[in-house]
Amino acid sequence: MQNILIAPSILSADFSRLGEEIRAIDKAGADWVHIDVMDGAFVPNITMGPIVVKSARPVTKLPFDVHLMINNPQDYIESFANAGSDIITFHIEAEKDPLEIIKLIRYFKNKVGVSIRPNTGVAAIEEILPMVDMVLVMTVEPGFAGQGFMPDCLSKVEEVRRIFKKDIQVDGGINELTAAKAIKAGANVLVAGSAVFGSKDYAGAIKKIRGGV
Ligand code: DX5
Ligand code: ZN
Repeated sequence: MQNILIAPSILSADFSRLGEEIRAIDKAGADWVHIDVMDGAFVPNITMGPIVVKSARPVTKLPFDVHLMINNPQDYIESFANAGSDIITFHIEAEKDPLEIIKLIRYFKNKVGVSIRPNTGVAAIEEILPMVDMVLVMTVEPGFAGQGFMPDCLSKVEEVRRIFKKDIQVDGGINELTAAKAIKAGANVLVAGSAVFGSKDYAGAIKKIRGGV
């Protein structure tokens, strides 16, 4: 059986109790902590930066999976890495020189993820696949938690899986039903915001998304 990893997105956590929320998902069996970084330019929303990553770092040993939805990601790699990130994912649509950013992420000893928006085809990342550790196929238009899953994106997960053996992550509208479809298509890392933090039982929600019930 494939090893399925669950990465709850703290974008849907209660920010007034962020430390407790992270401890709670850790205890509930999360594998990674997904951190959504938005700049109000690449996407129409603003969220958090390295300072939040740094404050959260002592709270858990779980890997910090930083999803950069920002323009000029190359300017912020060092700050996020120093703040304690483990995996940094950039958007191919935001980066003119992907090789440069991949080099930079590796220089700061993070794993490299590359992401495509719903309207971006797999062809846009095909050339750099041998150089990355993870592909993030967005299953909503990036910007906000709580949106509906876009089933059309699943064919891209299948397409990537045919040519890529490492981690494939899906993000947006993931719940136990859509998770099952994404896993079937070839994804093995599932991001979930509302489905985890919106539930009363984080452990139960994570288990259902993983498909373990
Ligand atoms: C969307 C973010 C997602 C989002 C997921 O731009 O990248 O990580 O917070 O939230 P849900 O699971 O509620 O769609
Ligand atoms: Zn995300």
